Amino acid sequence: MDINQIFKNNADWVSKKLGEDSEYFTNLAKGQSPAILYIGCSDSRVTAEDMMGLGPGDVFVHRNIANMVINTDLSSAGVINYAVVHLGVQHIVICGHYGCGGVKAAMSAADLGILNPYLREIRDVYRTHKDELGAIEDEEERYKRLIELNVQEQCINVAKTAEVQKAYRQGKITIHGWVLDLSSGKIIDLGIDMDAVLKNIMEIYTLDV
Ligand code: CO
Repeated sequence: MDINQIFKNNADWVSKKLGEDSEYFTNLAKGQSPAILYIGCSDSRVTAEDMMGLGPGDVFVHRNIANMVINTDLSSAGVINYAVVHLGVQHIVICGHYGCGGVKAAMSAADLGILNPYLREIRDVYRTHKDELGAIEDEEERYKRLIELNVQEQCINVAKTAEVQKAYRQGKITIHGWVLDLSSGKIIDLGIDMDAVLKNIMEIYTLDV
C-alpha cells in the first residue's frame, strides 16, 4: 500500500463532506455527544461506524483483540468510565465476530508469548462454559459458540464496573451483545437478556453506588 494514497483519500473525503455541508467540520470540532459506546475487535475487517451506517460523532469506540473487557485493563476501564460518566452514552455494545483470530488462538495450545496472559482471559470464558462447549461436537460450531459466549462474558465484565452499575440501576444504559457475521456482513444481536444473566451473579459483584 502506498501510504501517500491515504492523504489523497483524505483530501477527497474532506471535499465530499464539505460539498454536502460546508459547516461539517466546524460543527464536528465543537464537541461530541455519542449515544453508543462500541467495544469491538481490532480485526481489520470489522469496522465500527461503517458497518452500522454511522459516522463521526456517533460512536465512542474501543477496539482490542477479541473485544475484551479485562477487569485490570486501564485502557478499556478508562474508555468505559469516560463514555458512561462524562459522555452519558445510552448504549454499550460488545461486538464480536465469527472467525475471530484471538478466540481461535485461545482454543489452540500454541505458546504466543506476551499474548498468553491476554488469551488466557478467553480460556477462562471457555472454562466457565466448559459443559456447554464440550457438548458441541463440531469444532466450527464450538468456535462460533465460544465467540458468542465471550461476547456475553464481556457484557458481564462491563456490568461489574461501578459506573455502569449506577447507570444501569437508574435505567440510563442498555448493554448489548452482538456478533458480526463476516461471511454475510450482517450484525447479529445475540439477544442477551442482561437482567437474566446478571440475576444470579450480581450478589457477587454488586457495589454500593
Ligand atoms: Co477478532
